[in-house]
Amino acid sequence: MAPLLEVERLGVRFHTDGGVVRAVDGVSFALAHGKVLAIVGESGSGKSVTALSLMGLTRSANTELDGAVRFDGKDLLNAPEDELRRVRGGGMAMIFQNPMTALNPVQRVGAQIVEQIRTHERISRSEAWERTVALLRRVGIPRPEVRARAYPHEFSGGMRQRVMIAAALSCAPRLIVADEPTTALDVTTQSQIMDELEQLCRESTVALILITHDIGLVARMADDVMVMYGGRVLEHAPADALFEDPLHPYTWALLRSVPRLDRERVGRLPTIGGSPPSLLNPPAGCHFRPRCPHSFDRCVEVPPLRESVDPAADGEEVRGKQDEGHLDRCWLDLDTKRRLRHLDRLDTQAVALACTDGAA
Ligand SMILES: Nc1ncnc2c1ncn2[C@@H]1O[C@H](COP(=O)(O)OP(=O)(O)OP(=O)(O)O)[C@@H](O)[C@H]1O
Ligand SMILES: [Mg+2]
Repeated sequence: MAPLLEVERLGVRFHTDGGVVRAVDGVSFALAHGKVLAIVGESGSGKSVTALSLMGLTRSANTELDGAVRFDGKDLLNAPEDELRRVRGGGMAMIFQNPMTALNPVQRVGAQIVEQIRTHERISRSEAWERTVALLRRVGIPRPEVRARAYPHEFSGGMRQRVMIAAALSCAPRLIVADEPTTALDVTTQSQIMDELEQLCRESTVALILITHDIGLVARMADDVMVMYGGRVLEHAPADALFEDPLHPYTWALLRSVPRLDRERVGRLPTIGGSPPSLLNPPAGCHFRPRCPHSFDRCVEVPPLRESVDPAADGEEVRGKQDEGHLDRCWLDLDTKRRLRHLDRLDTQAVALACTDGAA
């Protein structure tokens, strides 16, 4: 079966007063029906711009887009605005980080969902209302027939985010794009809402693109993980493979910076040294090169995103033993990566031990 979503060499450039910002640079991936793809990476790596561009939400006079975004086989990147509107909220729905910006503050929440349903489907107002109430109940809003008549400001942050999820589900989308859907919420509400979203995905065949800084959430929910940095994909792999056999030095740094219980008491976490590249004036070659402890001369050329090369077979490039579909963008060969990663790990253990000693 053809993938639900195919993104091919997506490029997004913003023309600003300061120059051209290459926010997304040759991003390709595919997503099958019902699968969960997590996109991770530091702030400014191009995650949101990628997500917004899927739905035509970065179109403007100052934006240059290239590549292809095929949803159900149809190219959306060059689709006319009315066709995009049909897809938005119909086939593809988006949940933003801040629900207040997506909800109309002067319209009752139920009416907003009813309206959204009726722009995509020919059904009566009362049928749309019934569906709205059922959706609000499904996402855990108590007394939905009453609450549907309230305004967004009468809801707590968590409840508003539930309303957004209900709105996203209102037209039975096949793809939900959730960009840090719970960042603005407290930890308990975060986990409740993610539980609900996860359950909704499992109950139906809706696919999910989940953008998050929460690696625990990625481990729990994602089928595949894409690591972005400086507008490019540096690693893309099935989630298990990414956690068990991460192959890009940037991914190691990212995983190392995740809080772990055994390190919590020291109150210090290893962070990634240096800062992300300027997308106005990115470094030549691999974008991670200036911060990478393992860079070498070849890294001034841009490495391709591909399966790692195994040097074992007498200089002949053959595929090493790694999970199928595990791609990364680094010139190091597979053996060297694994060896360096092992050394890196020892390194972090030493750091953790030193910190523990200091705190004791
Ligand atoms: N409309 C715009 N005009 C110019 N530059 C932009 C525009 N939108 C985004 N950018 C730039 O594009 C880059 C990627 O931004 P993006 O919002 O995709 O990052 P992100 O990975 O989502 O980060 P975060 O984790 O902080 O949300 C950033 O350098 C940002 O400043
Ligand atoms: Mg973002």
